[in-house]
Amino acid sequence: MEQVFPSDFLWGAATAAYQIEGSLHVDGRGPSIWDTFAAVPGAVLGGADGDPGCDHYRRYREDVALMGELGLPAYRFSTAWPRVMPDGRTVEPRGLAFYDRLVDDLLDRGIRPLVTLYHWDLPQALQDVGGWGRRDIAARFTDYACTVHERLGDRVADWTTLNEPFCSAFLGYGLGVHAPGVQDERAALVAAHHHLLAHGSATRALRELGGAGQRLSIVLNFSPALADRDDDAHRDAVRRFDGLHNRFFLDPVLGRGYPEDVLADLAHLRALEPAIHDGDLSTVGASVDWIGVNYYAPSRVVPLSDPHTPSNCELPGLRGVDVLPPRGPLTSIGWEQHPGSLTDLLVWLDEHCAGVPLVVSENGAAFTDVVDADGRVRDVRRTRYLAEHLRAVHAAIARGADVRGYLAWSLLDNFEWAFGYTQRFGLVHVDFDTQRRTVKDSGRFFADVVARNAVPAN
Ligand code: FCB
Repeated sequence: MEQVFPSDFLWGAATAAYQIEGSLHVDGRGPSIWDTFAAVPGAVLGGADGDPGCDHYRRYREDVALMGELGLPAYRFSTAWPRVMPDGRTVEPRGLAFYDRLVDDLLDRGIRPLVTLYHWDLPQALQDVGGWGRRDIAARFTDYACTVHERLGDRVADWTTLNEPFCSAFLGYGLGVHAPGVQDERAALVAAHHHLLAHGSATRALRELGGAGQRLSIVLNFSPALADRDDDAHRDAVRRFDGLHNRFFLDPVLGRGYPEDVLADLAHLRALEPAIHDGDLSTVGASVDWIGVNYYAPSRVVPLSDPHTPSNCELPGLRGVDVLPPRGPLTSIGWEQHPGSLTDLLVWLDEHCAGVPLVVSENGAAFTDVVDADGRVRDVRRTRYLAEHLRAVHAAIARGADVRGYLAWSLLDNFEWAFGYTQRFGLVHVDFDTQRRTVKDSGRFFADVVARNAVPAN
């Protein structure tokens, strides 16, 4: 028995430029905030940075061939702003030419390219003048987006403005565990607004540039809140966490502005209101053709007896709710495996987004993998994780959710941000010393799912 997906369901895998490209000092690339952050002692496990990554800048043909072998119909990747514009403003033709070659290679093999314009690697030159803390970053980003679009727009139909503004703003400017490493709750909220402004402004501009077949999107990361009890206090803890983690980014993108209850929860910081100018919310609400859903794990929340006590979690300004430790089984990065939350999330999003289609733009799991003597990677746990989450997506579709695709994170083991090279998410194992690629058992499993357009029932 198997569970069959809709006939036009989009299958593929995802990566991001800084995590795989390497070649940080090649063809005029400028420094990014992740180069700077990674150089800070203790910021990244093992003192690692994006070099060598997967050496994909030089080995992209081999990687595209691998996708061909796996029969992947689509590939989501990001373009690096510091390659295209090393100082954030001036075009470097050699950087643009790389993505031109990559897109051609994908198309030659019949693989549909989905371009994400920003996956966290801001040019350091823009950070030096304030980065996402500055309002005019929206204009800079729009300029960059149009530059890439002018070069690739004749062949690329799917454009995502930002990947996970939550991480970039809240982890980068609030908690400080991501680049640029700022720790300031107010700065995190202002940066979040500027991300959304940049998304809306670029979406409007790309809409004007693109043709009828073009699809514009943003990718958001969601963590559904779970509580052990269903009383008023627990329901309110769920509301607060879900509000700031999920609805805070989603509602403005859908043209509804920031959720009133979340603004009320954040009023004590007095951060956001001065940053929101007249007209901003209509810009942010520029219409999108699909919403990218990145899902890895839920969060378990509990109310605090004093509603004013700061939360132990990464959400800036959150009060009166703590996040509990995840419950087993966990992946090696310490995230809870809970496929049921993905079904519930997709069903909720489908209702909440009222007609905007969804694509699961990232989902996957990190485990410690070894290449056995016979050259196989028997990653049974990742295969099980994928199967369970694919069944969860299928269940959401069966309940009526308009989910159009699933992109596995990730094609390759890669540089996992603050975790360096310690967390392997790939369908393909990468030996970072030799750059040898080995398709894992989970990669073969996924290829089979794609070929059959179906997942085994259990
Ligand atoms: C997401 C990121 C992606 C990767 C996965 C594991 O938050 O978008 O780059 O790091 O997590």
